[in-house]
Amino acid sequence: MNISRKIAIALCVVPLSLSVNTSYSASCSPGGYANSFSSGTGFEISWDVCAGNLLQMEISNTSTGWIGIGFSFDQLMANTDVFLGGFDGGAYGYDGFAFDGFSGPPVDASQDFTIESSTEVGGTTTMELSRLLSTGDINDFDLSIGEYYLLWAFGGLDDFAFHGVGDGRGFSAETYSFAAVPVPPALPLMLFGLGFFGFMGFHNRK
Ligand code: HEM
Repeated sequence: MNISRKIAIALCVVPLSLSVNTSYSASCSPGGYANSFSSGTGFEISWDVCAGNLLQMEISNTSTGWIGIGFSFDQLMANTDVFLGGFDGGAYGYDGFAFDGFSGPPVDASQDFTIESSTEVGGTTTMELSRLLSTGDINDFDLSIGEYYLLWAFGGLDDFAFHGVGDGRGFSAETYSFAAVPVPPALPLMLFGLGFFGFMGFHNRK
């Protein structure tokens, strides 16, 4: 294999990012979000960022008690920005922050999540939520910067009580970025490399 072809292949396999970027949407309609995460055990999270700064999410789980999600710099419950809620004849829930990893997260003084809807159908609880990426609240992470693991948890009852071990709680393997990233910086370089070395390869054959 000639050197130009080797370099072209090397440029293609350089990872663009270790974190998963959010794809941005101009119009956000519930139920059809472009970004998603699945626990593999019944907990589903999907989202879009609308108008550049509004995070819209759908969270659901195959259970009828409370469900909760969190944003964290690690895969631990402690130091996690959370939302907990569910359906109990109507929507309920709160914006909180888990300071420790063993007790119910306290309610934030500033409630920055909006519950758009909450349903319980066929044993599955589904909530539509929205929140500004950057709320200005000291107990909310600024999601317009940084990378976060997604955490989830749920309880068997509507009252917020211990989720239990095992599938009652968990975390994503990868981090997610919610910031607007127009074009990954490595992409133009990669395209240039492909074009340039493809051209060179064509000429070398003559
Ligand atoms: C009712 C509120 C909650 C209580 C009482 C509670 C309690 C606990 C306790 C005692 C543990 C350690 C035992 C274990 O490993 O399961 C734990 C772990 C964990 N919790 Fe919670 N939790 C609550 C809410 C949440 C929420 C809302 C989330 C995320 C959205 C969460 C995510 C986790 C995770 C990922 C772990 C395992 C990692 C770790 O030990 O930090 N918890 N929780």
